[in-house]
Amino acid sequence: MTSRLLDPVRLGALTLPNRVVMAPLTRCRADNPEAAPTESMARYYAMRASAGLIVSEATIVSAQARGYPFTPGIWSDAQVAGWRRVTDAVHAAGGRIVCQLWHCGRLSLPEFHDGELPVAPSAVNPQWQMFSSTGLQSTVTPRALTLEEIAATVADFGRAARNAVQAGFDGVEIHSSNGYLIHQFFSPISNRREDKYGGSHENRARFFFEVLDAVTAELPASRVGFRLNPMMNRFHGLAVDADTLPMFEHVVKRTNSYGLAWLHLTEPYLPNQLEGATGAVQEVCRHFRPLTTMPIVTNGGFDQARGEAALAAGVCDAVAFGRPFIANPDLVERFRTQTALNECDPGTFYQGGDKGYLDYPLLAR
Ligand SMILES: Cc1cc2nc3c(=O)[nH]c(=O)nc-3n(C[C@H](O)[C@H](O)[C@H](O)COP(=O)(O)O)c2cc1C
Repeated sequence: MTSRLLDPVRLGALTLPNRVVMAPLTRCRADNPEAAPTESMARYYAMRASAGLIVSEATIVSAQARGYPFTPGIWSDAQVAGWRRVTDAVHAAGGRIVCQLWHCGRLSLPEFHDGELPVAPSAVNPQWQMFSSTGLQSTVTPRALTLEEIAATVADFGRAARNAVQAGFDGVEIHSSNGYLIHQFFSPISNRREDKYGGSHENRARFFFEVLDAVTAELPASRVGFRLNPMMNRFHGLAVDADTLPMFEHVVKRTNSYGLAWLHLTEPYLPNQLEGATGAVQEVCRHFRPLTTMPIVTNGGFDQARGEAALAAGVCDAVAFGRPFIANPDLVERFRTQTALNECDPGTFYQGGDKGYLDYPLLAR
């Protein structure tokens, strides 16, 4: 059987041996006070090096960016050294890995900020439940960023991009989806600002483009991608309205002049609605395809057959797989040999040490 998934593809400066991308997956294994990547993390990523491209788990750009326990950062020397071990291990195994740069904004809790409020475009509570060290906790009303703090946050993304290069990553993906800080600026639900960061499409997109400018000052645009989920509805405190699509059309069209490496379109991770998501995300890809000059990576509820169908339909250039990569480090080989997949265990997605992390079985050789 001919397989488009197993064909090579170029995303900007990156040449991928196949179109099977490992989606970014937060696993909360950086369980040390430095929030530095560990030896287990290096092993976990190296086991998945046969992916055409690995997008790392979301990686916080500063202490203020944190929203979950044990997520790794990329602002300190210890973190850069930890990531260097990861990228070296992936490269030694023949793979490619980019760093997903993240700020949670209002999707956070005071316990991650010494009791202080999380920050956001505006003081609007997302009314969500977040993981804390003691179980699920309700979000609070965040504090609106000042103009000086917005500039400092943009600079944090720039430093993170610089550190990602130093740590040996092949590129970066800006996490501008899933209701986190950049998405909070896009949406009028979370962005009620009356200054140059609120109101019009241009103003609500300003923070993202400042981040993009800061990031592309540190590495070539041909090594930078970004992630959107334009139709994310009633998730993480955001919702779709009549203005949502025009807003994202504005964002996508304006990015064309940058020569970026990929546009990653996903529909939200809703545990109970994922099976419907592949249809939705393909519609989203079809909509944005004519508007963008960038290769499109699609994601959300795909298996091998659906991935092949999306590529055959021409709506995307590569397909990212999340949960299948959690349970199947050798996912590409399983696709190649049409072998059944291991099931993933949601109980160890965000906890469990090496259990559910390093012990999913590989195919016998
Ligand atoms: C355990 C887990 C962690 C995730 N962490 C991230 C993340 O760090 N960044 C991100 O953009 N999406 C994250 N997602 C969403 C996935 O990248 C992906 O969009 C989602 O799992 C749907 O794809 P799938 O059906 O192939 O699993 C996460 C999803 C899961 C299940």
